[in-house]
Amino acid sequence: MSQPIWDAVDAFAEGLLIGPDPVLDEAARNNSLAGLPPIAVTPSQGRLLNLLARIHGTRRILEVGTLGGYSTIWLARALPADGRLVTLELDPGYAAVAERNVAAAGLAALVEIRVGPAIDSLAALAAERPEPFDLAFIDADKANTPVYFEAALELCRPGGVIVADNVVRGGTLADPDTDDASAIGNRRLHELLAAEPRVEATTIQTVGAKGYDGFTLALIRA
Ligand SMILES: C[S@@+](CC[C@H](N)C(=O)[O-])C[C@H]1O[C@@H](n2cnc3c(N)ncnc32)[C@H](O)[C@@H]1O
Repeated sequence: MSQPIWDAVDAFAEGLLIGPDPVLDEAARNNSLAGLPPIAVTPSQGRLLNLLARIHGTRRILEVGTLGGYSTIWLARALPADGRLVTLELDPGYAAVAERNVAAAGLAALVEIRVGPAIDSLAALAAERPEPFDLAFIDADKANTPVYFEAALELCRPGGVIVADNVVRGGTLADPDTDDASAIGNRRLHELLAAEPRVEATTIQTVGAKGYDGFTLALIRA
């Protein structure tokens, strides 16, 4: 079993469980027209993030890796009217597309996009001593996922949740000899999680329209 059947299953499930969503479909179209790479979460994954945020009663979300704001919209839709989502993006062009998509989704009042290297943005954010976040979604350059995880751990409240995407990457997570910087980052994330008494975590392998990959879900002990 491989990509065609994974595509078909995603299409079947998304057709029945998610259906057309003019705002998100338009955001995906805008991303494509603007030449952004096709690396946003799928609708099924976006719905998962949205459900997770709602199950968790999330009011404040930190996102690392905005691209065109597709996952941002899924997440921000889970917020109450006084909620807040801060999302970090390196590329000013991508951030401009995201800003337009978020505004078109009617979510501009809830979302703040910060442009620059996420390491710098996270340091600046920490210096502001913000109200703690309830949920962090890490989906940027995978080599730095461990750095982003450590920053998110400090910025989230006890009981908060951290999700890191694309941690399996075709199984490279399990390769101790890999020289791929992303795989090394993901392996380091797992070593950090194993040594970190403040969190309990699990990694789930997935297949779907984005191939064979997976995500890590970590709960910060209350
Ligand atoms: C996988 S995409 C994010 C997809 C988005 N979360 C979604 O699902 O719609 C990764 C993003 O991280 C951004 N990125 C890469 N390196 C970065 C860095 N050092 N700091 C901030 N963002 C970075 C990329 O420009 C890209 O837009």
